[in-house]
Amino acid sequence: MTTPDAATAVVTGAGGGLGRPIAVRLASDGYAVAVVDVDGDEAEATRRSIEEAGGTARAYAVDLRDVAAIGRLMSAAEADLGSLQVLVNNAAVFPAGPVADVTPEVYDDVVAVNQRAYFFASRAAAGRMRRGRRAGAIVNIGSITQHGGWAEMVPYATTKGAAAAMTRALATELGPADIRVNCVAPGAFPTRAEEMHADPEAYSRRIIDSQALKRRGRLDDVAAAVSFLVGPDAAFITGQTLNVDGGWIMA
Ligand SMILES: NC(=O)c1ccc[n+]([C@@H]2O[C@H](COP(=O)([O-])OP(=O)(O)OC[C@H]3O[C@@H](n4cnc5c(N)ncnc54)[C@H](O)[C@@H]3O)[C@@H](O)[C@H]2O)c1
Repeated sequence: MTTPDAATAVVTGAGGGLGRPIAVRLASDGYAVAVVDVDGDEAEATRRSIEEAGGTARAYAVDLRDVAAIGRLMSAAEADLGSLQVLVNNAAVFPAGPVADVTPEVYDDVVAVNQRAYFFASRAAAGRMRRGRRAGAIVNIGSITQHGGWAEMVPYATTKGAAAAMTRALATELGPADIRVNCVAPGAFPTRAEEMHADPEAYSRRIIDSQALKRRGRLDDVAAAVSFLVGPDAAFITGQTLNVDGGWIMA
């Protein structure tokens, strides 16, 4: 059962490795959660885990490459669940490969999901927050690949740099409407994004060598940072990128 007029949090890519724990965490913080993913079965699975734990959620199968569908999603989430207060732009794709193999189609696709959808989802959500004169919070999930040099991930790393730049520009424009915008940049977390690495154990060792903290990141580490940034304890924080990476990147 959903309760219209709860504070609603929209989480994109919420059927995925990091998106699910973010959605579950925001539900346990008291938000009604719009669980959005192109993979409707995974979105449903997240909705079930939230409701089994006593939270409120609704699953939406949406391809965020479709800008018109993003607008419809925000209206539906507000009508079904209640006033939109939080947006987490988390859905992403990770095409890996050498520069020479990147076709215009691959490039456009990664930009459409990881960058254009972040912008249009933020625009649609902020419009609703503004109209309702509500304080709001947006978190863009970036990546530490924007800071370091990573081979064979050029289009992906480019969109993640864009997420941080978009965060600062949006925070400046939306601040007067009391809408905060921040970015969480994860290090390396064990999700399907890691399937691209041929030797997972060697990859894990390399990560731990790179971090100050000598353990792999847990998915909940990212969810906790998102929960903090959208919540009242971060009421005076906007335009920032928080690296959640065990002390890998310290600049
Ligand atoms: N896992 C990591 O180590 C890591 C590191 C740095 C940053 N990140 C970032 O964290 C976020 C989540 O990544 P993840 O590791 O959980 O990956 P994931 O593949 O498990 O989750 C991504 C989700 O996005 C969904 N998605 C993809 N295209 C979509 C579209 N067109 N419309 C709607 N949904 C779509 C997928 O179905 C998937 O459920 C991404 O923004 C990623 O860049 C992850």
